[in-house]
Amino acid sequence: MRPADPGAAAARHPAARHLADRRPHVPTDRLLAELVPPRHFASASFESYVPDPAFASQQVAADRLRAVADEVRRERTASWLRRRRRAEPPAVYLDGGFGVGKTHLLAALAHAVGPEAAAYGTFVEYTNLVGALGFGATVDALATHRLVAIDEFELDDPGDTVLMSRLLRELADRGVALAATSNTLPGSLGEGRFAAEDFLREIQAMADRFQVLRVDGEDYRHRAVVTAGGCVPEELVRAAVAADPGATLDDFGTLLRHLKEVHPSRYGALLDDVTLVGLTGVRPIRQQSTALRFVVLVDRLYDRDVPVLMGATEDRQLFSLAMLRGGYRKKYHRALSRLGSLAEQGRELAA
Ligand SMILES: Nc1ncnc2c1ncn2[C@@H]1O[C@H](COP(=O)(O)OP(=O)(O)OP(=O)(O)O)[C@@H](O)[C@H]1O
Ligand SMILES: [Mg+2]
Repeated sequence: MRPADPGAAAARHPAARHLADRRPHVPTDRLLAELVPPRHFASASFESYVPDPAFASQQVAADRLRAVADEVRRERTASWLRRRRRAEPPAVYLDGGFGVGKTHLLAALAHAVGPEAAAYGTFVEYTNLVGALGFGATVDALATHRLVAIDEFELDDPGDTVLMSRLLRELADRGVALAATSNTLPGSLGEGRFAAEDFLREIQAMADRFQVLRVDGEDYRHRAVVTAGGCVPEELVRAAVAADPGATLDDFGTLLRHLKEVHPSRYGALLDDVTLVGLTGVRPIRQQSTALRFVVLVDRLYDRDVPVLMGATEDRQLFSLAMLRGGYRKKYHRALSRLGSLAEQGRELAA
């Protein structure tokens, strides 16, 4: 066993709750019930999406998604016979940089189609669903919807690739419309992460399925390229946590070790009824696998609008240069953009 580190002891606040004490169990019916847009996008609509006139592709993407929504809605009311006769269901893929509004548009599409007809989840949630229910049961459950919306489509390993190409094929065969978002063009999925060239057939088949809509623009979160996370003094973190009964307080290293013990699909449940996440001893993350787990936690914090207060004695880079330049660079930059925005909210709360 590792010796307890001093930072960990300091973070143990008698009254505070700790994420590291939580081991959530998520029943499969909850996984299915949660296939809806996350809290941050609960009211995202086409009306609240304001295309930037400087980037024409935004209006084009919004118009196409509105048309897809109409098509899916019409399909819901079409007779069984007409449905059988019709051509391929629509499949669209929004590709673009960070914070340009892809998720906003995807959630708007899901809302326009309606909660009964649309299943909405992140790529990781769908792969996890297959892990929990099995492949056939997942297809059956998803095929009860007319649209399956997949946020953050990305292929991290060959297993994902084979599974997703099969899942998409089966859903399309059953007439389910597909909509996805990604920071990567479909033909380039997996590049730099695994031997994607060995899975070209699957990747190409997936890419061919989609109509790609490029969304250009600036990061709406208005975050300059951040490499540090916006840390604050640790006393400030403790004081803010003490003032908020819904807050949690964890030593960063202890939390990173805990994340290894909890399946990433449960990181959302880890945050149930948490209103502020306080961290102390925030420092650079050395290992890629640890960093990628932290990225998933940041994604779930962002989905749920949970502000973060990161306490450290100095504000250093969370991710190494090698990470920021490697195959997962987009994930890291996106996480920093999101974390920057959550840390700003945390600092506002603390002020
Ligand atoms: N054109 C827009 N009009 C209104 N709100 C927008 C627009 N674009 C983005 N937003 C808002 O900005 C925030 C960031 O957008 P969003 O998360 O949809 O971007 P994204 O492209 O999915 O980014 P990421 O690559 O990080 O997933 C959200 O709160 C979203 O509602
Ligand atoms: Mg997004």
